[in-house]
Amino acid sequence: MAEDNSTSSPVGKLRQHWGSRLGFILAATGSAIGLGNIWKFPYITGDYGGGAFVLVYLVCVVVVGLPLMLAEFMIGRRGQENPVGAFQKLHRKGSPWQGAGWMGVASGFLILSFYSVVAGWAMAYIFKAIAGFAGSPEQIQDQFTQLVLSPGDSIMWHSIFMVLCVAIVIGGIQHGIERWSKILMPLLFLILLGLMFYGLFSTNGGLKALAFLFRPDFHKLTGEGILSALGHAFFTLSLGMGAMITYGSYMERGARLVRDAIAISVLDTFIALMAGVAIFSLVFHFGMEPQQSVGLIFKTLPVLFAELGPWISVPFFVLLTFAALTSGISLLEVVVSYFVDERGWSRTAAALVMGGLIYAVGLLCATASLEVPFMGGKGYFGFFDDLTTNYMLPIGGLLTCLFTAWVFRDKDRVDEFGSRGFAYRAFVFLVKYITPVAVVIVILHGLKLLPFMDYSH
Ligand code: PFF
Repeated sequence: MAEDNSTSSPVGKLRQHWGSRLGFILAATGSAIGLGNIWKFPYITGDYGGGAFVLVYLVCVVVVGLPLMLAEFMIGRRGQENPVGAFQKLHRKGSPWQGAGWMGVASGFLILSFYSVVAGWAMAYIFKAIAGFAGSPEQIQDQFTQLVLSPGDSIMWHSIFMVLCVAIVIGGIQHGIERWSKILMPLLFLILLGLMFYGLFSTNGGLKALAFLFRPDFHKLTGEGILSALGHAFFTLSLGMGAMITYGSYMERGARLVRDAIAISVLDTFIALMAGVAIFSLVFHFGMEPQQSVGLIFKTLPVLFAELGPWISVPFFVLLTFAALTSGISLLEVVVSYFVDERGWSRTAAALVMGGLIYAVGLLCATASLEVPFMGGKGYFGFFDDLTTNYMLPIGGLLTCLFTAWVFRDKDRVDEFGSRGFAYRAFVFLVKYITPVAVVIVILHGLKLLPFMDYSH
């Protein structure tokens, strides 16, 4: 039984563990698969021209994403603690590396505050879909603007989403996160499979969608596109903020991390591609252009759904909600694990208090959404998104990578990796020389400091 192998935390509590390998894989895949896969990946692929972008993205997942995910699992499992505690345990008490853990906890807090607002919109759209999208294309698209600008609705859905996250996290590792991941992830997969087959075989857009996603046209690829692919690999795999350290810390000795990290990255990538096929089939079926940007899901698709009916639209927004929920709980768990491990709070108190604070900060995004200028005129939403996705996650990822490459003791590292063979040497080479360079490039790009890019527009 899991409890038999429990380890104790600094405050003397027994640590919970996953009940099974499948449970862990589904929970970690649930964290990775989220709004990033179903909302963001298709629209950035559309914006950056399709196939060539997808190819670069796949390379980024292998060269940057996979090694970092593995590094996070190794740190988490070795440390058997939250990100702050794990860095200290593997280095020394008071180690400056705990800063990486601190930043992770802060990122989890901030990301969830705005993530929950978007997830709330997804839930609101389930009901709009049930009621049916009707009217002229402009009227249908306008529904989204109305939702965003009516604070009452946004707040209500944001509240419901946060209550769900808090309730699941209070349930604990096996009875909360693992149990719900085991229910929601297979459902998510089935819904997406259905939508993908519908797109491929029941519309006239299937072949075009496949060609758009898988036939690379390098003329369309820009420097900006390459950097977005790299940045997205981070976000979509939940890296750079200790989520995978936290989930890794609930793993027992003996699990084979490399195999699991590969399975999770592959599943995440598959789901993003399946979402791409499902969505672009519809877009092409109706003869539209793929570059629909941020409004793809909440503005363009509803116009198409008006023709297709609730059998397609309702499952789609349920899918989006499930994906967001399993990611939301992982964001909250990072914050909660810190207060449980390091401060000795009970899980329930930590989830309620921190969930409540995250909720309060999220209210800024839900109410002032896109309207109130804040820090450079972006609004709270844009500011938090930009701060976390473009700076905090890459910096957290860079520190994690440097720690694994240069501070993690070789003996412990080999122990966690499971062998000293070619794969291990390739991993160490990547985290020493390739991954950090790629991440530094993303950070410099975020700061608009790359010499070969044109930042004048
Ligand atoms: N990976 C999630 C997505 O693709 O939507 C977002 C995310 C979840 C990022 C959890 C970071 C994290 F810790």
